[in-house]
Amino acid sequence: MADQAESLREMMKNRNGQGESKTRIIAVASGKGGVGKTNIATNIAIGYARLGKKVVLMDADLGLANVNVVLGIIPKFNLYHVIRKQKSMDEIIMDTNYGIRIVAGASGFAKIANLADDERNNFIDELSHLENADVIIIDTSAGVSANVLSFVAAADEAIIVTTPEPTAITDAYGIIKIIATEIDNLNLGLKLIVNRVKSVTEGKKVAERVINIAGQFLNLKVDYLGYVYDDPGVHEAVLKQKPFSAVDPNGKASICVQHIVGRLENVEYREGGGLGQFLKKLFGRSEGPVEKV
Ligand SMILES: Nc1ncnc2c1ncn2[C@@H]1O[C@H](COP(=O)(O)OP(=O)(O)OP(=O)(O)O)[C@@H](O)[C@H]1O
Ligand SMILES: [Mg+2]
Repeated sequence: MADQAESLREMMKNRNGQGESKTRIIAVASGKGGVGKTNIATNIAIGYARLGKKVVLMDADLGLANVNVVLGIIPKFNLYHVIRKQKSMDEIIMDTNYGIRIVAGASGFAKIANLADDERNNFIDELSHLENADVIIIDTSAGVSANVLSFVAAADEAIIVTTPEPTAITDAYGIIKIIATEIDNLNLGLKLIVNRVKSVTEGKKVAERVINIAGQFLNLKVDYLGYVYDDPGVHEAVLKQKPFSAVDPNGKASICVQHIVGRLENVEYREGGGLGQFLKKLFGRSEGPVEKV
């Protein structure tokens, strides 16, 4: 493992050594399912692309093809084929009409941690082909499977999505608690989005509740990234299999996401380790606690 980490570091150093800025890696997660992760991840990705960034949206939901559905795309190949060495990353990554590229999730493997050595090495090698992206946004499945934790732990930032529903709030706290106890990444920037709010005040109240409990009981700082209005346009866009910010760029939800992207760009962001660090952490977890660098 040490050898592998070392060679990875070298590889990324060489590749990143040309003065390019590092890839920012953002994972989107939630406790409860159906709170809007995929819609938010997809539309944040599109918002970033509108700022001229090179964006890859990765569907890490290893069960259901979420991102594909929202974008109306049917990929033939996904990460599973990459891991199995049947395809390369360049062959499975897909362009979209929305200025972002997508990588479809694999449904064929249960745990990244359980990959055989050669599969893991191949996966690392192929994932490193994403290095020319400015931003990688990872849409995860609800709850805290080992894979979700792996992706969240490896990312520079994790956005937790909740709605004002009491069960969603409780589950948001639940996943934050698990992240706090399971993940040894002290620099992980944890951020909260409250989706489907009826008012600004409602979003603020929900955020304060989660942030206060996390601070009080876990001694963990969570930043409020913003709210997204409950907007019938979201559902309509989903039915059309198009991202809501493309269907109605001036709609209530679209404007909220635009603000969120602006905030993400403006918040003081501790530059993470880029893709090399991400890969190292993603696979470092499989053999126990994340290595400190
Ligand atoms: N801001 C919103 N306004 C109105 N409806 C919304 C909003 N956000 C999400 N929805 C509704 O919730 C549904 C689920 O959203 P989405 O698929 O993004 O959730 P998810 O968290 O990714 O779900 P899963 O946990 O199954 O992956 C959407 O199809 C849409 O109907
Ligand atoms: Mg989803």
